[in-house]
Amino acid sequence: MTLLDGIAAETFRGTNLPVLKTERLILRAPHTGDAEAVTALINDRRIAENTARIPHPFTLADAEGFIARAHQDDREAQFLITLGDDTIVGGCGGGTLSSSAPEIGYWIGIPYWGKGYATEAARALIDHAFGGLGHDKIEAGARVSNPASRRVLEKCGFQWTGVVLTRIRAIASAAPVDRFRLDRGLWASLKSWGMVKIASTAREDGATAKALCKS
Ligand SMILES: CC(C)(COP(=O)(O)OP(=O)(O)OC[C@H]1O[C@@H](n2cnc3c(N)ncnc32)[C@H](O)[C@@H]1OP(=O)(O)O)[C@@H](O)C(=O)NCCC(=O)NCCS
Repeated sequence: MTLLDGIAAETFRGTNLPVLKTERLILRAPHTGDAEAVTALINDRRIAENTARIPHPFTLADAEGFIARAHQDDREAQFLITLGDDTIVGGCGGGTLSSSAPEIGYWIGIPYWGKGYATEAARALIDHAFGGLGHDKIEAGARVSNPASRRVLEKCGFQWTGVVLTRIRAIASAAPVDRFRLDRGLWASLKSWGMVKIASTAREDGATAKALCKS
């Protein structure tokens, strides 16, 4: 539920946002030239109503603002999810909002639903949070009416912790949201999932990052 929300730098991103690579995806920082593609993909009520703060309709100005904040506000760690040819298929991010633990969120453009992209991107984000940044736990949320997102979290090892009412900007109201947590110990035991190539992570500036995984 945190996508496009404020993210604390010291808790989720280092000085430079890395590029996270998986089998099929490249997670990279948004750039100015992405605004139109992001707008076209995200401007759908089915996406906005399942996230906390994505507005609907989502305008080009919203995309430009999101991209600008991603670079100006170093508390944010926002990635676009792209294919190998740089086609944008979605977005994801992480950071702290209202709780002490970092929280992740994600969205996938509707033409790309059902291909496992959200799960693959979330796992890369999780590996970055635990392996690269050394967090001990991560939180996430999914509206109770959003079984696909709950399933993504379950496939990543998240454990259900309860339900809270959360403000949803696109519906101008609050809705019940299932809350989930993933601890470092469980993540370490799940590392055999093997879908995320941590060693291929590289910095935005092109320099190769050291291995991210501590354990
Ligand atoms: C939730 C969302 C990110 C999923 O993206 P995705 O790339 O299609 O997800 P994946 O393909 O990785 O996994 C989806 C899983 O949910 C399952 N699923 C999809 N619709 C479902 C439904 N109605 N009921 C139960 N399970 C469902 C899929 O079968 C799949 O599980 P499986 O691999 O066990 O078969 C996407 O639908 C989306 O962007 N929704 C709007 C924004 C949002 O909800 N963001 C999350 C909150 S931050």
